[in-house]
Amino acid sequence: MIPDGIDPQRIPTHIACVMDGNGRWAQRRGLPRTEGHAAGEAALFDAVEGALELGVSWLTAWAFSTENWRRPRDEVRFLMGFNESLLVRRRDELHERNVRVRFIGRRDWRVPRRVLRRMDETVELTQHNTGMTLTMAFNYGGRAELVDAIKKMVAAGVPPEKITERRVRDFLYAPDMPDPDLVVRTSGEYRISNFMLWELAYSELVFTDVLWPDFRREHLFDAVREYQRRERRFGGVTAVQGTGAETGTG
Ligand code: IPE
Ligand code: IPE
Ligand code: MG
Repeated sequence: MIPDGIDPQRIPTHIACVMDGNGRWAQRRGLPRTEGHAAGEAALFDAVEGALELGVSWLTAWAFSTENWRRPRDEVRFLMGFNESLLVRRRDELHERNVRVRFIGRRDWRVPRRVLRRMDETVELTQHNTGMTLTMAFNYGGRAELVDAIKKMVAAGVPPEKITERRVRDFLYAPDMPDPDLVVRTSGEYRISNFMLWELAYSELVFTDVLWPDFRREHLFDAVREYQRRERRFGGVTAVQGTGAETGTG
């Protein structure tokens, strides 16, 4: 059942969530910041359920940025262990829900090997699932992604005259992933913070004051309602609905 006020014909193909506000959620309760991260798990899995209800094909969740290494060591250590244990605890459930799990981000920099192992196991377990793709952006930064893409492109010997927008996309972390139609950022911060700089070119941005641990599928539905009130033009003059519109010249 699609929730009231949502047009089933115009469900975004790809929704990306910037899961922000965990620390403040905890601080407001007099708890350590890490308790906020722990409480964010319920929010993520309710958002997954909501996305499945809507029939969203791609859901992306940003769990750790390339800049988050600047945080206190204990918090970073907690986040690594927490994300690792979350995969172990939740992957069977995701598999049962026919969710394909993937990761974007810098693999070969700082991420502990045992975390990488859990990520690989989860990807392998769920790789043939067809319900929805849940992409976890982990050790992810938009500039890092572009630097990594340029490195790969140079290493592959792509000559300058062959560089097009499509070719650049081929070297991103997930070339087959459609650009996000809708990005939801929680916690009242109005910025991108180095998220998907290439892919967000024409995404609709929805900001909410809700702190991530309080986020539930109803908030996701509200964001989709807001999205459906927007008119996407992609630089043209007539409204274009839907997704995957290639931009520019490439
Ligand atoms: C988002 O919550 C989670 C991560 C960045 C890992 P924060 O930890 O950024 O929470 P605030 O923004 O400090 O409240
Ligand atoms: C963005 O949130 C990263 C994630 C949600 C994982 P931050 O809390 O790190 O962003 P800033 O520092 O407020 O810009
Ligand atoms: Mg934050």
